Amino acid sequence: MTQADLLIGRVLRIDGNPFVDGTDAVGIETGAAVLLRGGLVAEVGPADHLRAAHPDARRHEYGDALICPGFVDAHVHYPQTAIIASWGKRLIDWLDTYTFPEEMRFGDPDYARAQADRYLDLTAANGTTTVASYCTIHPESVEAFFAAAEARGQRVLAGKTCMDRNAPDGLRDDPVAAYDDSKALLERWHGRGRLSYVITPRFSPTSTREQLEALGALWAENPDCLMQTHLSEQTDEIAWVRELFPEARDYLDTYEATGLLGANGVYGHAIHLEDRERDRLRDTGAALVHCPTSNTFIGSGLFDMDGLTQSGIRVGLATDTGGGSSFSMLRTMAAAYEIGQLRDRPLHPAELMWLATAGSADALRIGDRVGRVALGMEADLCVLDLSSTDAISQRAERARDPWEEVFPTIMMGDDRAVRQTWIAGRPIKV
Ligand code: GUN
Ligand code: ZN
Repeated sequence: MTQADLLIGRVLRIDGNPFVDGTDAVGIETGAAVLLRGGLVAEVGPADHLRAAHPDARRHEYGDALICPGFVDAHVHYPQTAIIASWGKRLIDWLDTYTFPEEMRFGDPDYARAQADRYLDLTAANGTTTVASYCTIHPESVEAFFAAAEARGQRVLAGKTCMDRNAPDGLRDDPVAAYDDSKALLERWHGRGRLSYVITPRFSPTSTREQLEALGALWAENPDCLMQTHLSEQTDEIAWVRELFPEARDYLDTYEATGLLGANGVYGHAIHLEDRERDRLRDTGAALVHCPTSNTFIGSGLFDMDGLTQSGIRVGLATDTGGGSSFSMLRTMAAAYEIGQLRDRPLHPAELMWLATAGSADALRIGDRVGRVALGMEADLCVLDLSSTDAISQRAERARDPWEEVFPTIMMGDDRAVRQTWIAGRPIKV
């Protein structure tokens, strides 16, 4: 039998969705252990029992550290790694000034591969094991990202970012090339090992109706693929969409009318939604992704987490690197908490941890494989040290319950809190 690893510590238990089932659906088991074998979780239970039952397993004693599912970042742009924290612009100017010039560089396969590796190093150091990434217009950027993830045995989702207008020379394709390139990449990578292709129109302002229709057709031919795009991030952007698509009822309608609204659709930001858009998102079973550091950094607005989850819409959480200002899902949970406060709805640590793990995995339709530490799930884990700095440990020592002990790490933790990341049953040095 293959060598097993026994991780001993506290374990994050996720039995349900805390927004629906209450915060007790997520809990912290003390004196617990997780057995990993063959890249999967083979057993979870009391440490004493697992120690006795598996004397030959390699032991990893994590003490009071919290063994969590690896974080799932549901919306990122790996090509924006080098332009994160760019000053002073709102969305459209930020794209033109910082993003597009950097994305131009990803036609060079060597640069693309180097950035893919740097990005995956940074995210692993922050405890993130799965991301859904936009690439650039260049097929090379998709090849590089999937190849880098495959070499690490990592579950990732990604796609070629299609644009055929309102982008500079060198960053535009056309409806036929968008369809053909995306189809070729999809056929090559979708379902290969742990990789999934995602059909990726950037957003309505940078696509003609013909391009959206071409990608809608590709999605109809490959309905098990996800489709990711941006929706209603800034008010200026929404006004621009209205000018570009005068026939559309609203922003979502530009996707709906072109075959780009569905249960496997994943829509980033979704801040300024109209009632009809909310109703259609709920009725179709689409997922939204909350990108809190991005929404404050680029000045977009405050996501309505409570209203959207209460109306039954599926929601995940994401950094939105590099519109977002961090690679860390801890920092992202902290920003989600702060935005919740501004909307008079402080999110519970159980809700925050769920969003960063099972919630994002469910939004990406991979919740049966990652996002929870449970029997048969893939062995992607993040071991969190809950006293990684003096400031955090001082507060954690005064905790009256386990969530009070976790919360300072959510609010103040960074990559120092990540004691170890496990990907596909292998420890990654961080
Ligand atoms: N809308 C269209 N493209 C982007 C992008 O790259 N980042 C963000 N935050 N919003 C977008
Ligand atoms: Zn984005």
